[in-house]
Amino acid sequence: LQQFLFQKPNEPPIVFHFFPIIGSTITYGMDPPRFFKENREKHGDCFTFILLGKKTTVYLGTQGNEFILNGKIKDVCAEDIYTVLTTPVFGKDVVYDCPNSKLMEQKKFMKIALTTEAFRSYVPKISGEVTSYFKRTADFKGKSGTVNICPKMAQITIFTASHALQGKEIRDKFDETLADLYHDLDMGFSPINFSLHWAPLPWNNRRDHAQRTVAKIYMDTIKSRRARGESDAQDIMYHLMNSEYKNGVKVPDHEIAHMMIALLMAGQHSSSSTSSWIMVRLASRPDIMEELYQEQVRNLGADLPPLQYEDLAKLPLNQAIIKETLRLHAPIHSIMRAVKSPMPVPGTKFVIPTNHVLLAAPGVASVDPQYFPNPELWEPHRWEADSPIAPVMSGEDDGEVIDYGYGLVSKGAKSPYLPFGAGRHRCIGEQFANVQLQTIVAEVVRLFKFRNVDGSDKVIGTDYASLFSRPLEPAMVYWERRDQESN
Ligand code: HEM
Repeated sequence: LQQFLFQKPNEPPIVFHFFPIIGSTITYGMDPPRFFKENREKHGDCFTFILLGKKTTVYLGTQGNEFILNGKIKDVCAEDIYTVLTTPVFGKDVVYDCPNSKLMEQKKFMKIALTTEAFRSYVPKISGEVTSYFKRTADFKGKSGTVNICPKMAQITIFTASHALQGKEIRDKFDETLADLYHDLDMGFSPINFSLHWAPLPWNNRRDHAQRTVAKIYMDTIKSRRARGESDAQDIMYHLMNSEYKNGVKVPDHEIAHMMIALLMAGQHSSSSTSSWIMVRLASRPDIMEELYQEQVRNLGADLPPLQYEDLAKLPLNQAIIKETLRLHAPIHSIMRAVKSPMPVPGTKFVIPTNHVLLAAPGVASVDPQYFPNPELWEPHRWEADSPIAPVMSGEDDGEVIDYGYGLVSKGAKSPYLPFGAGRHRCIGEQFANVQLQTIVAEVVRLFKFRNVDGSDKVIGTDYASLFSRPLEPAMVYWERRDQESN
């Protein structure tokens, strides 16, 4: 009846719901992948549901990803959706608080700093942070123990990212003020703030205070680095301090500061969720953790020398761990765009009107048995060419590339594996995240053996309550030091 009363003939089918404004907000919010799967079975790849009063049209599968993520700038818009959440957290004039062409230039500045040469200097910094963390942290004293791994991985992520991308001076401030301030900034990212971002609520007041304070810390650091005439730094902050927009204007200090916040926040949630999932998965498969250790012994030498950037390429299983974990646990499960002009869906009678929001969920194709045999199985060996469950992805990417203004990216968004998105908003942090995660995993594997507390191969469920999905807590892991002499 609902379909009959409300569905317009050229619009996608509407998911059944009892209450007008709430619509499917609760069933979607509790478990988005299940919501997509169940409704895909009923309605096909393209359907509409009500999310907080807004008609939200999901388009699943590789064609849906292409339609939304490669949508033209006249048709789809990210900033209309995200700016209410991100501008109070990042600050003015960056990312979604500026025209898209400016974001493309900002992404270019940030991406240029993420070179092989820079990565070479990052690996020892990341390694150093990881080993020092496990030496000094009370929960890892002794020969064995159990720990909720998520908060630990969140700390390791922020220490490693801030040291590598923003320099030692900023990293050291995380032991003093910055950790708490970033926590307050984080509160601004709770999904409720899509509606209440403006309200004078306690957490919004703390967010605003934190934004001003953090921006000032960065601006003071920029000034002091300039005064020192620093010229050999490899980090992004230094690079931005020396960048100029196409119109000849140097990037102003407040924009550098706001981009620093944006970069750390963009990477933090995704990378820390991914590293937590990796540890949770390794605890459920101690055999793989042992294989990772043996891979290092075999390919780097039994004395396990300090890790270098070049070593990462010699550790294919270590790399596959990250790929496979992102296939099943991509932290960004929903990517949204405002519709700016009516969009006909190719091959259907549907036209998506401008009062709808479009939602892409690339993770749905990553668990489609059409592309990934035995899709629910976490099996890093599937990424080896001769694996019986190797991905079936040929012909998806025709090799064509395009430059949206921040460097070349693959033209098509038709791959069933897109944890870093596609199109003009694609992630620029992919290589950094890979270097960071591979180094963290390699160091953890050198130090520890993990297993589930009950010795089983069970895996904990997913927490979808914030914008980025992550393991439900407490995600308890039993750890044992490899070197029983140490600590
Ligand atoms: C964009 C995923 C790490 C910076 C994106 C998008 C995805 C993504 C899916 C596209 C969002 C959209 O289309 O709306 C991930 C994952 C990561 C990760 C899975 C780690 C495992 C990082 C890191 C950085 C970063 C470490 C920074 C160094 C960015 C930026 C954008 C972006 C600047 C562009 C946003 C835009 O153009 O609208 N990321 N990311 N990401 N990411 Fe990442």
